[in-house]
Amino acid sequence: MFNIGFVGSKGIAITVAKELKNNKDINIVAVYSRSFEHCQEFAKQFGATPYKTYEDMLEDKRINAIYVATPHRFHYSYSKKALEKHIPVICEKTLTLNLKSAEELFEIAKKNNTYFVEAMWTWFNPTAYKVKEWIDNNKIGKVKTFKADFSLPSIYAAKKFRLTDLNSGGGSLYDLGIYPVTYAYRLFGYPKSIKATAKMKRDIDFQLKVIFEYENGIKAYLTSAIDRFGSIAAKVEGTEGKIKLPMMFHAARKAKLKSKQGNQIYKDKENILLYEREFVIASQEIQEGLIESRFVSKKSTLDVMKILEEIKSQINLKYPDDR
Ligand SMILES: NC(=O)c1ccc[n+]([C@@H]2O[C@H](COP(=O)([O-])OP(=O)(O)OC[C@H]3O[C@@H](n4cnc5c(N)ncnc54)[C@H](OP(=O)(O)O)[C@@H]3O)[C@@H](O)[C@H]2O)c1
Repeated sequence: MFNIGFVGSKGIAITVAKELKNNKDINIVAVYSRSFEHCQEFAKQFGATPYKTYEDMLEDKRINAIYVATPHRFHYSYSKKALEKHIPVICEKTLTLNLKSAEELFEIAKKNNTYFVEAMWTWFNPTAYKVKEWIDNNKIGKVKTFKADFSLPSIYAAKKFRLTDLNSGGGSLYDLGIYPVTYAYRLFGYPKSIKATAKMKRDIDFQLKVIFEYENGIKAYLTSAIDRFGSIAAKVEGTEGKIKLPMMFHAARKAKLKSKQGNQIYKDKENILLYEREFVIASQEIQEGLIESRFVSKKSTLDVMKILEEIKSQINLKYPDDR
């Protein structure tokens, strides 16, 4: 049995816990968040031990890994404390508020010979690899453009304070824009140039447009917003065809290839849930003794963090720790 301690008892923590509930090999044994009442509710629903302090939870010898699912601002301190005690960490995206903090965490992980991964679950998902395989095998000829949007008016629907709070790492880039950015990076690598513009409110990017240009002429058009709906889809166009990813492209279990060489529809038919897959893979990697994931590498996380820094500087987005 692989035992996980959760930091965070609402939001994504509940979504993930629901997916893990029926997994026979993974158990949520402990939970900590600011409100003990919320921890108790979570504990009751998922059979974990609720903790009043994080330090006490880290002393729970049953724990094989910590899952950090708090707002971005707090990822650094919770990850650091666990890694320093040699406890593996699966940390939600966006990993940290700046590149320097992310680099520090990977250094701490290395020093303590302990597994550390960003929970960028798109890249634990086979659909994204199928899209990359089609592109790398020239199924759509020479790629011209990649378009991806993640615009969701989550500030109204979920009433999430963290999304509009600069101190918590608010804004569309860190919450949603990271998905189009990471997708473009994983398909085509580090761009030659990055141009970003944003509609800012209260020092936060409510809407964001980013254009990547590559040496080989590929252009990526990436958009995100926290106050309006967009397509939340993605499309790659080439000289001989196109690939379409449906709504919620970052979590897609299906992709369509339309090509002069023949059309294909890919469907991920594996009997495993979206977040569950990430935890199954991470638990296996930890048990193998790895300190870095084969699916979401340190380099990919740090390269994306570097891109985010460039975007932040162009749109003048400054989080408290950046000042
Ligand atoms: N929501 C999603 O669909 C989704 C998807 C993928 C990734 N993520 C990532 O997951 C992270 C959390 O997102 P969310 O939407 O779940 O946020 P959320 O709904 O605001 O929930 C945050 C959780 O963190 C706890 N928390 C807040 N500040 C804390 C602190 N200082 N110390 C300990 N616990 C604290 C809260 O606990 P209390 O209630 O006790 O304060 C709550 O349980 C973000 O980094 C986000 O990017 C979210």
